[in-house]
Amino acid sequence: MPSIEPEKKKFSYATVITLAVLLLVALLTCVPYLASIALAEGPVVTDASPIFGVTIPVNYKQWELIAPAEEAAPLNELRAVVGNQTAIDAYQDGKLPFPDGTILVKRAWKRTQSPDFASATIPGTATTVQVMVKDSKKYAATGGWGFGRFINGKPVNEAQHRTCFACHEARAKGHDYVFTRLAP
Ligand code: HEC
Repeated sequence: MPSIEPEKKKFSYATVITLAVLLLVALLTCVPYLASIALAEGPVVTDASPIFGVTIPVNYKQWELIAPAEEAAPLNELRAVVGNQTAIDAYQDGKLPFPDGTILVKRAWKRTQSPDFASATIPGTATTVQVMVKDSKKYAATGGWGFGRFINGKPVNEAQHRTCFACHEARAKGHDYVFTRLAP
């Protein structure tokens, strides 16, 4: 009889250890899964442009049109510059410089001949989405504007982002570095 008690105890220790090990394994198996959830919740950070940390605004496809534009060969693109409400208000009031919080997005597509009407030109495949965000403190070194250029939702490299301000500064300084005027 006395020998049965310790045996029973040994068995239950073994069970506890086995369960503990199983629990540990289960937890460790979950780690990559939990990590992927944590990372998936911050895609905005991963998709930010180099240098400026600018992202594609979520609902820009619903924004109001400021003006269309067309780019000659070799790019052959149709463009549409749209803006958030702060941008539209500033344009309508003729306010310069644009206030902090202004966001301008330039959408672009390959210029394509309409299959239904020979002389009509329509948007083909989307090429780039370009973004300018006004934050006069954060982007003081670049006229108050942060820049982002995206292809298929992914930001292009740092070298390309170094070209943005130079061109906008050289040609559009007198209009707060913005080329596009409100279409009449
Ligand atoms: C060589 C000159 C040049 C460079 C470099 C350039 N842009 Fe522009 N950008 C323009 C012109 C010209 C327009 C006017 C619209 C058009 O013709 O497409 C424009 C328009 C824009 C607009 C709409 C607001 C506005 O100013 O009219 C955004 C947003 C924009 N560019 C973002 C960028 C970003 C981001 C980069 C860098 C990745 C960049 N641009 C680099 C010339 C340039």
